[in-house]
Amino acid sequence: MIVLTTVADMVKARDLAVRPLGLVPTMGYLHEGHLTLARQARQETRTVVASIFVNPTQFGPAEDFASYPRDMERDLTMLRSEGVDIVFAPTVDEMYPKGYSTYVDVEGVTKPLEGARRPGHFQGVATVVAKLFTIVRPDRSYFGQKDGQQVAVVKRMTLDLNLGTEIIVVRTVREPDGLAMSSRNVYLTPAERRAAPVLYLALCRVRELWQQGQRDAEAMRQEMVRLITSEPLAQVDYVSIAAATTLEELAQVNGPAMVSLAVRFGRTHLIDNISLP
Ligand code: PAJ
Repeated sequence: MIVLTTVADMVKARDLAVRPLGLVPTMGYLHEGHLTLARQARQETRTVVASIFVNPTQFGPAEDFASYPRDMERDLTMLRSEGVDIVFAPTVDEMYPKGYSTYVDVEGVTKPLEGARRPGHFQGVATVVAKLFTIVRPDRSYFGQKDGQQVAVVKRMTLDLNLGTEIIVVRTVREPDGLAMSSRNVYLTPAERRAAPVLYLALCRVRELWQQGQRDAEAMRQEMVRLITSEPLAQVDYVSIAAATTLEELAQVNGPAMVSLAVRFGRTHLIDNISLP
């Protein structure tokens, strides 16, 4: 496994790489969710590139960019054991040098949910992902369903800007009690951690209602709020049942939908989602 820190070296390596080339973009502090993306890329492509870059442009001024957990040595050991070929780990100055002025704005799908809660977040995500696609030129790029809105944004941008990479979506990897794995789970206190499975519980309840024939989205949103507020440590940021591609809120669930929610425990925001059907 080789570790590259400059754009120039990454461009040289991608030009020499055996195709197809798979890209797994991450912000590091890896867990089993990230490794599942790497494993799938390893199975489906000849050259696997994983990027590790805590991207400052996707963090708001009051968010945890400075304190976001980092452990490069541990990450490299984990990626090496998954058979990753190249790690691209640039510095902030390498990605955003002095004078940097270009940002990618995806309309529509970036506005609700996490976009409303975190202004500018998806501009930062779209910008860095567009840069990674341009630098690495992957044939296939691997993203987790865990960040469902991010998937919708990246798909929209890739189509609109003809970025020419296939977006592969990988199922959410969960702890045994259902909590979706996340680098931010380390922020939870033991009591918050015990309460956190309520997110997945609420999503599973909606799936159950849907399987029983419920199609009224508002009734199902209310059921999610009821379940989450039964947990005293949890504060609901939002619950949503939206059309899968546009993320417009639905009145009736008759086609593909994303059921999602954001819940705060103390200062820690957790998100999760499932797809219907
Ligand atoms: P990060 O949060 O490090 O996540 C990297 C990738 O791992 C994302 O595609 C995310 O959806 C996926 N992932 C995280 N937890 C997962 C889980 N429990 N199961 C399956 N996949 C999971 O998402 C980002 O970084 C950044 O926004 C990035 C795309 C790298 C741009 O900076």
